[in-house]
Amino acid sequence: MATLTKLDDIVSLAKRRGFIFQSSEIYGGLASCYDYGPLGVELKNNVKRAWWKSVVQMRDDIVGLDSSILMHPMIWKASGHADKFADLISECKKCHSRTRVDQLKNKNGSEGDVNELSNKVCPACSSVGQFTEPMPFKLMFETQMGANAEDTMTLYLRPETAQGIFANFRNVLDSTRVKVPFGIAQIGKSFRNEVTTKAFIFRTREFEQAEIEFFCEPGTDEQWYETWKAARFAWYTDLGIKADNLRFREHDADELAHYAKACTDVEYKFPFGSGDWQELEGIANRADYDLRQHQRGMRSMNAWFEQGRDLMKVNLVDEAEDYHKGPLSFYDDQKKKHYIPYVIEPSAGMDRSTLAFLVDAYDEEEVKGQTRNVLRFHPALAPTKVAVFPLVKKEGMPDIAHNITDDLKRYVTAFYDEKGAIGRRYRRQDEAGTPYCITVDGDTLAEKTVTVRERDSMEQIKVSVDQIKGYIRDKLDM
Ligand code: GAP
Repeated sequence: MATLTKLDDIVSLAKRRGFIFQSSEIYGGLASCYDYGPLGVELKNNVKRAWWKSVVQMRDDIVGLDSSILMHPMIWKASGHADKFADLISECKKCHSRTRVDQLKNKNGSEGDVNELSNKVCPACSSVGQFTEPMPFKLMFETQMGANAEDTMTLYLRPETAQGIFANFRNVLDSTRVKVPFGIAQIGKSFRNEVTTKAFIFRTREFEQAEIEFFCEPGTDEQWYETWKAARFAWYTDLGIKADNLRFREHDADELAHYAKACTDVEYKFPFGSGDWQELEGIANRADYDLRQHQRGMRSMNAWFEQGRDLMKVNLVDEAEDYHKGPLSFYDDQKKKHYIPYVIEPSAGMDRSTLAFLVDAYDEEEVKGQTRNVLRFHPALAPTKVAVFPLVKKEGMPDIAHNITDDLKRYVTAFYDEKGAIGRRYRRQDEAGTPYCITVDGDTLAEKTVTVRERDSMEQIKVSVDQIKGYIRDKLDM
């Protein structure tokens, strides 16, 4: 079982095969922004589809949402992001590069005490102990909305999709028949002006999140937290990630986000470098923090206008005494009581999981003295599901192969290829991770069968032409 042991190898594989390109490459590139190429966009869309299917389509207790990226600035005041969403950074007095304090290493390579800077090494120029006092660096991108000076306001690109869900909690309760316990799921772009990037699509400034806010009765939250941890771990392994490459890591109290009562990461063992375990997803118990904070935010709108709509000057008013009956509460008509639900939040990064699925699927094996490169994607994730080849470009084989391709395209991504020797065509599809290849050959003309070759076993079987569509759809479960 071969793996990619260098980040450069995965970057070059991703580029060569049209999975991922550097953004704005023709202008020298834009740091920490990436574009998904023809195979990459299919792969990432399939990852998103698989997530949506498992958390929305297959469940009765979760509904979907697609909220806007730009939201009222008071959302970020109430959520705490405007005041607290920052990294502590320090500047090297020698080379002036800035680094997150929690990522600085000691001279002997250990991580040690984050507050003790005298022994820390600058990752840019290797100077030791040359850091300034740590200072907060705000992670939200700002932008301006409005054409006229009097109504222009500063907005923030959302740093998490979650707040769009909390802001729509009441709308969803009032427009659907959901009852606690239930969840709202959404996939969308988020933006953070990250200090440290340089890890390909692992940490970027624009990325995509898939988040569930699962609302439950206080007191049942710890049970739901465990249930979601297990469900989310199983999602990755069901889609083919090797269980040995996945683990849970519980956050220590001092690393919890400002809203979290508890948090566990699902980590993946990326094979490059020293084989680092890195976060793919966080499962947090946010308790009733967000809904309560938004109730305070809603009560603070006068302050917002009085302060000239300057977020930095606004102070949130105190919570109402009967906050548990407030506009973002839930009324349990069986127990005849109001409460603010607790929230369990499984929050996954779609770019990070796409990278993990790509890296985990990579394999090299010796076949008849030659190296076969293959991406062993789960069929649900494979960018192309089936490739169809005429053995030769004559005797009507291309027409039959075109017809089969067009028929399959209505259900799955199918690719027609007539260029090169058949062995080369198989190899190209192995490299793209296509689970099935269909060859129209002499037997098609004589016996009305095609040859189906399976990617992983390379086994070939004959299937009759009139059953091929059903056979492939059955195999792919689509
Ligand atoms: N709403 C909770 C939240 O945003 P988070 O741990 O900050 O929690 C959740 O982010 C997930 O989003 C992470 O596990 C990661 O997969 C992804 N993510 C966060 N920042 C990212 C970045 N800069 N680049 C790529 N993915 C990122």
